[in-house]
Amino acid sequence: MNIDKAVIPVAGLGTRLLPTTKAIPKEMLPVGRYPIIHHVVEELIGAGIRHILFVTSRAKAAIANHFDDYSELMIHLELGHHEMREVSRFDYRQRGVEFFFTNQQVPLGQTKPLGTGDAVASSESFADSDPFVVAYGDSMISSPQDPGLVARMIASHQEHRSACTIAVQEVAQELVHQYGIVVPTPNEENREDCRIRDLLEKPAPDQTPSRLASSARYVFSPCIFDEIRKVTPAPNGEIYLTDAILRLIHANAVVRAVRLTPAEARHDIGNHRAYFKTFLEYALEDAEWGQEMREYLAARLAAESDAGRNTEQL
Ligand code: UTP
Repeated sequence: MNIDKAVIPVAGLGTRLLPTTKAIPKEMLPVGRYPIIHHVVEELIGAGIRHILFVTSRAKAAIANHFDDYSELMIHLELGHHEMREVSRFDYRQRGVEFFFTNQQVPLGQTKPLGTGDAVASSESFADSDPFVVAYGDSMISSPQDPGLVARMIASHQEHRSACTIAVQEVAQELVHQYGIVVPTPNEENREDCRIRDLLEKPAPDQTPSRLASSARYVFSPCIFDEIRKVTPAPNGEIYLTDAILRLIHANAVVRAVRLTPAEARHDIGNHRAYFKTFLEYALEDAEWGQEMREYLAARLAAESDAGRNTEQL
């Protein structure tokens, strides 16, 4: 059976991006010409996903508005051919894509949602008895190839009848402490698609047996819901999705990893450093303004280094 359902958790508070996210959902921050959530949705549609559930919150109505019908604009604007093409891309019904929304409940007495595991738990009736993709709404994968990452993950999940398939990217040794690290089974370390035997949360660089970082995309079979229910919350009260995956691994369920290829890149916006880099990448690649942005940046940096040299000479 084809996997055509995806869940996008977007209910987090985005505290690392404050004050930018005080009134704007982080998933609505622009990356190039579109909010990042738009890139995520297009990535999923490109992988054959047709039913998308946003696990959202009251503070994030802008996300639903972004994917709402665009007909008022079509009526009020006198559109040229290019604009018409852009606007018709917003006609998701015509493209066979359906959106669903559910709010992640914040329990009485709590001040924040209970984490990524709890967000995925909110999608149980949407998933029903079908396998489904989970894509974090603050992270995107650019892929110049076909099939792209999510399509390859879906194919692997089906071929191996896996309980869980995780996207992974090789990172530098000194950066492993920033990521959830996936440990492949022996002899599978160098495969594009490998079975995994452990998951380590932010290991120390000198103690890690692997450099494969978990990369914001998953495929799950519905058995994940039972495991989420059994997770012991972390000391901060959150229920982590990775703890539910660890339970699957310990129960000897098939958990596999599919690698990003060297041509693919993960772009994250979880903190300002990552967001600025991601925005810059997309601005420099813009079809209309990219070249001008490159020239502007080059001139700006040259002027800065000239000024530095002049100050040194004083
Ligand atoms: P993060 O943990 O990176 O997002 O979750 P956050 O909690 O918003 O970030 P900080 O730490 O406060 O800055 C990754 C994705 O999962 C969603 C987020 O909205 C983000 O898109 N998420 C996170 C939920 O839907 N619910 C949660 O309880 C936590």
